[in-house]
Amino acid sequence: MRIVVGVSGATGVEMCYYLLKALKTVPDCEIHLVVSDAAHRNWELETKLDYEDFLSLADYLHDAHNMAASISSGSFVTDGMIVMPCSMKTLAGIVTGYTDNLVLRAADVCLKEGRRVVLVPREMPLGRVHLKNLLAASELGCVIVPPMLTFYNGSKTVTEQVNHIIGKILMQFGLTFDDFRPWQGTD
Ligand SMILES: Cc1cc2nc3c(=O)[nH]c(=O)nc-3n(C[C@H](O)[C@H](O)[C@H](O)COP(=O)(O)O)c2cc1C
Repeated sequence: MRIVVGVSGATGVEMCYYLLKALKTVPDCEIHLVVSDAAHRNWELETKLDYEDFLSLADYLHDAHNMAASISSGSFVTDGMIVMPCSMKTLAGIVTGYTDNLVLRAADVCLKEGRRVVLVPREMPLGRVHLKNLLAASELGCVIVPPMLTFYNGSKTVTEQVNHIIGKILMQFGLTFDDFRPWQGTD
């Protein structure tokens, strides 16, 4: 399996660290990581986690300005892409095909090749432009997995909430995640 992970400059870049750690537990999963400039800046502003540790979780790290990277071409076959978090700017770029960095180009490639694209959009509140672009992304085939709170499974901590979001993302690729606690049903 080969998955592209894009990180853009919405708040919550740290969520992607936990996503990569989860992907690392998947046997034979090749992770291609690309981080936008704004995402890198947000990492510096928001988290004390070590940035190099984060980058080292990827099997392949791509410069966001390198349009000649493997993931910039449809001939480089992948199973799809996750953008976590997805800023409103990156969302706008995806729905308009404005591929001015490698996060956007890689998403554009996945869409044109009919591959799975999962967006984890983050903004609050959502304005009309954002809502229109989210609908457009859904109509283009993206799966929208907003980082929303979930309480039905007893998640109390931020870590548990993030684990649930990661489980829902991995589900889109037919993958399971040990720390994901699905609803078990009730009588
Ligand atoms: C601390 C911080 C938090 C931000 N949070 C958000 C956010 O939640 N959603 C969003 O769309 N933009 C957010 N932004 C603005 C984006 O970083 C900005 O629009 C940037 O140009 C996005 O670039 P990119 O999509 O290429 O990564 C934030 C910026 C900063 C500095």
